[in-house]
Amino acid sequence: MKQKSLLLAIAASATLLCSAAGLLPYQNTSLPIEERVNDALSRMTTAEKVAIIHAQSKFSSAGVPRLGIPELWCTDGPHGVRPEVLWDEWNQAGWTNDSCTAFPALTCLAATWNPEMSALYGKSIGEEARYREKDVLLGPGVNIYRTPLNGRNFEYMGEDPYLAAVMVVPYVQELQKNGVAACVKHYALNNQEYFRHTVDVDLSDRALYEIYLPAFKAAVQKGGAWSIMSSYNLYKGLHAGQNPRLLKEILRDEWGFDGAVISDWGGVHNTAQAITGGLDLEFGSWTNGLSEGKKNAYDSYYLADPYLKLISEGKVDTKELDKKAANVLRLIFRTAMNNEKPFGSLNTPEHVEAARRIAGEGIVLLKNEGAILPLDMSGKKILVVGENAIKPMTVGGGSSSLKVREEVSPLEGLRRRFGKVAEITYVRGYAGEQLKDHDGMKLLDISDNRSEEEMISEAIAAAKNADYVIFVGGLNKNPYQDCENTDRAGLGLPYGQDKVITELSKINRNVIVVNISGNAVAMPWIKDVAAVVQGWYSGSEAGNAIADVLSGDVNPSGKLPFTFPVRLEDVGAHAMGEYPGNADAFKCNKDTMPEYYKDDIFVGYRHADKIKNAPLFPFGHGLSYTSFEYGKPMADKKQMDADGTITFSINVKNTGKIAGKETVQLYISDKKSSLPRPVKELKGFSKVELAPGEEKTVTFIVGKEELSYFDDAKHAWVAEPGTFEALFGSSSRDIRGSLTFKLTD
Ligand code: BGC
Repeated sequence: MKQKSLLLAIAASATLLCSAAGLLPYQNTSLPIEERVNDALSRMTTAEKVAIIHAQSKFSSAGVPRLGIPELWCTDGPHGVRPEVLWDEWNQAGWTNDSCTAFPALTCLAATWNPEMSALYGKSIGEEARYREKDVLLGPGVNIYRTPLNGRNFEYMGEDPYLAAVMVVPYVQELQKNGVAACVKHYALNNQEYFRHTVDVDLSDRALYEIYLPAFKAAVQKGGAWSIMSSYNLYKGLHAGQNPRLLKEILRDEWGFDGAVISDWGGVHNTAQAITGGLDLEFGSWTNGLSEGKKNAYDSYYLADPYLKLISEGKVDTKELDKKAANVLRLIFRTAMNNEKPFGSLNTPEHVEAARRIAGEGIVLLKNEGAILPLDMSGKKILVVGENAIKPMTVGGGSSSLKVREEVSPLEGLRRRFGKVAEITYVRGYAGEQLKDHDGMKLLDISDNRSEEEMISEAIAAAKNADYVIFVGGLNKNPYQDCENTDRAGLGLPYGQDKVITELSKINRNVIVVNISGNAVAMPWIKDVAAVVQGWYSGSEAGNAIADVLSGDVNPSGKLPFTFPVRLEDVGAHAMGEYPGNADAFKCNKDTMPEYYKDDIFVGYRHADKIKNAPLFPFGHGLSYTSFEYGKPMADKKQMDADGTITFSINVKNTGKIAGKETVQLYISDKKSSLPRPVKELKGFSKVELAPGEEKTVTFIVGKEELSYFDDAKHAWVAEPGTFEALFGSSSRDIRGSLTFKLTD
């Protein structure tokens, strides 16, 4: 009681102080945020509340000018800060001060399996966004990699909910320290681009909770995300941005989210549903306000004049409006009106270095026969082949496209690193389609109109005399590759690259393939090449990072965040699912494309582990230039009860000659269960750095949470008593030790 009156006294004097300083309560950052929100709300008219819950331009929403509450400015996200666009256009505004540092694509970040890299990423991109005076960064994306055809997988963190959930948290936390909100996207079930506006996803609650939600939940609960972006697709018949199950029941009621839900650009379709569905802020709706001669196209948004009209006619009350406006105000107070935020910085040497470090840790050495890598280049003749050695990859791919201050191409990176000691020649090998521009930004013209035969013969002739052939190919950011709004047509490499690689490998035994992609690709030539490096889209420093790994300046330590299947049929979504939707049902109901996720929880390695065909490269795979020996795993006990934990430990030793990093992965296998369970599931990982000969102990604490499955019928997580196995591996298929233990009643 005493304490309460003391608090009241303090609050009263704070109010006095601030009024003395001329501050109104909502302006006073020393007051609790809810008090400020309520105060601001109480001063706003209904029209002012409606004005802050929808866009006023392509990327901004209005503030409350009368009250000095600032506008809210968003930007893409998630790999760098998007260049300025025109007020009402996707096209660039042509500013000259908006070039950024491009950080590696999120698949590459996930491949570091290192939360410290995630923190560095969030901090660096946050500083750039802050400097550019942005309040909300539209990212990171954590949709689960369900099919290698999804054009946007490169923007996400892979196929495993545990890995994505661990990696997303430091990104969000460090970003938001800059007073810039994360807008975690695309919530939820946006697992393909094909039919992205019309696909109506349905799935078991078990798959929803076990596979598709954990990374979002972690971003909200552990990361404290201030905003979340609803996705384009439908879920159980309702668009995600107007879906009370997703936005109210799960996000608010179950997870306690107190931020703002922002629609994906053009993801709102209906005023009544947007009012009650849990959305707070509408962006990008393609209304035809201008053509109807309205004073402002944005007044025609679903949550603009149509909402005001319903209120003024007494058809809806203002309860939902107050909630939405409160959520938006809270977001504004945390960002635009946060006067304690730092100033940020742009294109600093530290950011460039961060981009290079993250890329270096994310690049995955997939194959290294005869330890051909790292390359000893002194006095050697190197032939570089492939369009991706010269193609800028920070531009294109959709909304994540960037305008960078500098992008080092793989060829340039190799020249910088080896140019003085080796003879480097470049030939094209193949050519993809040349696009002219992206959102008004002119693309580098690398068109080559020679025939396939001409380019292959040139490459073969050059390869005859080369000591090493470095083929840099893969996908690119053009439509139907790794690109928003389209999915890939198949697992194979485009533009006849398989043929080029096969022909090169017939002539030269030292072919090293650097695959640039955010997706798994088929590699029918895998046995014929000496080495394969997964180079991702590695941002501004891509070429330097690739040269770092090929030269051995950086010992590779990336591990795959998703499975590379041999064939599409080995992927759950294709073997069992309905990807890209149920075409027959689509015919009957032309507005939406129903798709039931029949693959259920069997996504990625959870499916690959069940089938006979081994994957091309398994989840968690990645080689090093050194070797690691695992000791015998130990546990502090053999059984635990439901409230307890078990601590596992295992020693890892660097048995090679150079320093390196190893990610020890812990998988849990439930030996007997009343519901079908995956063969094993990732439940812990730890990356350790070891000098030659050095040994370290890695520990994992396992509790009930790591043993549970989601029971649809009970709507609860259940840890079933019985026998479990803890598996310790260097990948999901390279298990180095195991222990069984019991969960008792
Ligand atoms: C994308 C979002 C993006 C938004 C704004 C949408 O088309 O799906 O990820 O943030 O555009 O550019």
